[in-house]
Amino acid sequence: MPTAGPNPVSFPEGNTPLLYRQQIAEWSGVSDLFLKHEGMNPTGSFKDRGMTVGMTQAVRIGARAVVCASTGNTSASLAAYAAQAGLPAFVLVPAGRVARGKLAQTVGYGARVLAIRGDFDACLRLVEASSELLGLYLLNSINPFRLEGQKTIVLELLQQLGWESPDWIVLPGGNLGNTSAFGKALEEARDWGLIDRVPRLAVVQAQGAAPFARGFAGEFLQRVRVEAETVATAIRIGDPASWDRAVRAIRYTDGVVLSVSDAEILAAKKVIDHSGAGCEPASAASVAGIRHLTDTGKMRPDARVVAILTGHMLKDPEILLSATGEAAVEEIDATPEALARAVEQTLPQ
Ligand code: F0G
Repeated sequence: MPTAGPNPVSFPEGNTPLLYRQQIAEWSGVSDLFLKHEGMNPTGSFKDRGMTVGMTQAVRIGARAVVCASTGNTSASLAAYAAQAGLPAFVLVPAGRVARGKLAQTVGYGARVLAIRGDFDACLRLVEASSELLGLYLLNSINPFRLEGQKTIVLELLQQLGWESPDWIVLPGGNLGNTSAFGKALEEARDWGLIDRVPRLAVVQAQGAAPFARGFAGEFLQRVRVEAETVATAIRIGDPASWDRAVRAIRYTDGVVLSVSDAEILAAKKVIDHSGAGCEPASAASVAGIRHLTDTGKMRPDARVVAILTGHMLKDPEILLSATGEAAVEEIDATPEALARAVEQTLPQ
C-alpha cells in the first residue's frame, strides 16, 4: 500500500512580497510595475522554491547524498536544505566566479564545496557525467521536481494579483530552469481555468552570456552556445540546460528574449538598491530589460508588468563595495568638525 511518504523538507519558503517602488517604475518606463522579490526566500533566492520539492524527493527515494553544479544560489539553497534533511551535500562551482555571500552561505550550511577549474557549463557537464556513477542525487534545475517547485513563483504572483494576469512577466535567464517553470505554470494556470489570459514572458540575459537571446533572434532554428562573461555571475552561463523547455515557454506565451549590457544591469541595480528594495546583479537584468523594451517601443508604458527580483542584495557584497562607483565608505576622524564637514558635503547650505 502506498504510504504518505516523509514530511516535506521545508524551511518554509515562498510567500514573497509583491512590491511597488515609484523610483523603479519611473526609471523603467512603465507606471504599473510590481517587483516580486524572491530574494526574500530563506536562503535569499528563488532556488528555495524548487529545492524544497527536490530535497523532499531525495529523502523519499533514500538518496545517500546530493549534488549540484551552481553559479552560487542553487548551491546555497542545496546546502541549507541538505543540512535540514541530514544528507551530505556536494556542490561544484566555477573557481573564483561565485559571489562571496553565496559561497559563505554554502560553506556555512556545511556543504562540501568543490571549486572547479572551469566555468559553470563545465561544472554542469561534470555532474551530469558523474553523479549517477557516484551515487549522488542530482539537484540541478534539470531535475523535474525542482521545476515543479519553481512554478509557485508564478502561481503565487497571480494569486497576489487576484488571478488577473499582468501583461508581462519579466525575468533574468541563465540556465533557463525558471523560464521553463514559468511557461509550465502559465500553461497549467490557463488549462485549469485560474486565468483567462496568458501574460507574455520577457527573458533578459546579459549581453556577454546571451545564447538564448541569439537563438530567439534566429527564431530558435539553432541551439546557440557561447563562452559566457558578465558581471552578473549568477547568469554567467553559455550553454543553458533547459533550452528546449524554455523555447516552448517563449512560444506558448508569445514571449520575447533580449539582452542588456553589464552597464545597463548595474544602472538598474543602482535604482533598485536606492529604492530600498535591493537585489543582486542578475536580478537587476529584469528591470534593465523593461527599460530596454519600453525604449524600443516593444512594451507599452501603461502595461501591467511584474519583474522578478531573483536574489537578495547581500548575495554579492563585493559589487556593492567595489571601487567602480563613488567611494563606498569614507573614514573620518572622531570629531564634531569632521562629521559636520561630511554632512555639509551631502547637504550643502
Ligand atoms: N537570477 C539568479 C539570482 C540566479 O541565481 C539564477 C540562476 C538566475 C537568475 C537564472 O535562472 O538559471 O533558471 O535561468 N542561478 C543558478 C545557480 C544557475 O546555480 O544558482 P535560470
